[in-house]
Amino acid sequence: MSEQNNKERTLIILKPDAIQRKLVGKIITRLEDKGFKIVGLKMIHMTQELAKKHYEAHINKPFFDSLLNFISSTPVIVMVLEGVDVVNQIRKLVGATDCKKADVGTIRFDFGLSIQNNLIHASETVNDANREISIFFNQNELFDYKLLLDEIIS
Ligand code: CMP
Repeated sequence: MSEQNNKERTLIILKPDAIQRKLVGKIITRLEDKGFKIVGLKMIHMTQELAKKHYEAHINKPFFDSLLNFISSTPVIVMVLEGVDVVNQIRKLVGATDCKKADVGTIRFDFGLSIQNNLIHASETVNDANREISIFFNQNELFDYKLLLDEIIS
């Protein structure tokens, strides 16, 4: 990224089905291949408290209890990616929530099995991203560094 003020970040969660099916490496490769920079990454246990904060918009949905059980069933990997228009670009790469409706070539089309077991969460908007990143990462867990690619991405 050439302009400091272009800097946008998004939160990614690799969910329990990605862990169980050993798809973590493949999915991270797809994100890196697109040219985005990893600025934070760790494995955590998604406690009910964290899940309720992260998924607060879904608390009253009929699938919420099932989602809570699913998302806390194994550790998950949380990542922050940075890049130009990263929120929208990653959502396109990830595909529709329901894997059956995801476009061909998206991560969810290629690997996902259902609407719940959709492998990966990616923030929907820049505001959501900022809120979600602050739930999972302290400032000192996020890194500011230069990639050679930064100069040619616009
Ligand atoms: P995500 O993009 O992380 O946002 C909310 C999550 O809830 C979603 O991916 C799915 O994992 C899950 N989800 C959304 N809709 C449904 C549904 N109808 N039934 C079960 N799980 C759902």
